[in-house]
Amino acid sequence: MILLDGRLASAAVKEKIKNQTDYYLSNNFRKPHLAAILVGNNGASETYVASKVKNCAEVGFASSLFRFDASISEDELLNAIKNLNNDTGVDGILVQLPLPKHISENAVIETILPNKDVDGFHPINVGKVVQGLPAFIPATPLGVMLLLEHYQISTKGKHAVVIGRSNIVGRPMSILLSSPHPFGNCTVTLCHSHTNSIRQHCLEADIVIAALGKPGFVTADMIKKGAIVIDVGITRVDDASSKRGFKIKGDVAFDSVSEKAAAITPVPGGVGLMTIAGLLQNTLRSYQNNFQLT
Ligand code: GUN
Repeated sequence: MILLDGRLASAAVKEKIKNQTDYYLSNNFRKPHLAAILVGNNGASETYVASKVKNCAEVGFASSLFRFDASISEDELLNAIKNLNNDTGVDGILVQLPLPKHISENAVIETILPNKDVDGFHPINVGKVVQGLPAFIPATPLGVMLLLEHYQISTKGKHAVVIGRSNIVGRPMSILLSSPHPFGNCTVTLCHSHTNSIRQHCLEADIVIAALGKPGFVTADMIKKGAIVIDVGITRVDDASSKRGFKIKGDVAFDSVSEKAAAITPVPGGVGLMTIAGLLQNTLRSYQNNFQLT
């Protein structure tokens, strides 16, 4: 069994990004700049955004973090985004989701300029990804593709089962895996909460991508021997024995599934780190587009 190690793969992607960035800086270009917006104080969102900011510094990017109280109005938030849209010193804008209920996530996503939408959530980017045109790919599915590439996992002609149809992960993942590129060309089944017999679908899968957010959902009896298993789940589960009071759990029952899988991602230390690598790659791409660099 091969452990698909997000630490190793993300470090390799980040090293390439850092080398390119260093080259631009040595030619007197400004730093690539990611602006992140965090609304409220959801514990998981705080952690993710802090990690994104820290990773920017690691590859030589500038970053700005804009924090707003959960009571901010939708108009105020949209105005903050418009200011960043107009700021030529900002390459990428990220608004951490979820947002408080009184703010429309769609309105927020559609206000970000598509060419600064490094999360790849704007309908223009989603449409372009579906059509196979150059676009920002959402960071988590992009991170999974980078992981497949790092480990040179052959996907062509394989049957991939994606569990979960979210706009952030499952749906774009299904599009990418079926698209005609080196780590695509799969036949894809997209399973969701109304799918009859998810187990039967999974048993026929060469590749299983679990992205439903239910800890331990994928069990060994659902996995064909020799399958590739990618766990996108990162759920906080109460755990009194841990210092923080919780543990991070994936969607896959790792211990038993790893005995059947040919390759599997751990949680933590798997896809989560690749998401950040994907975001950094998108931010560098946006910067290159700004300065017409390749
Ligand atoms: N919330 C969970 N995942 C993501 C992500 O990739 N980007 C943003 N902006 N919010 C998220």
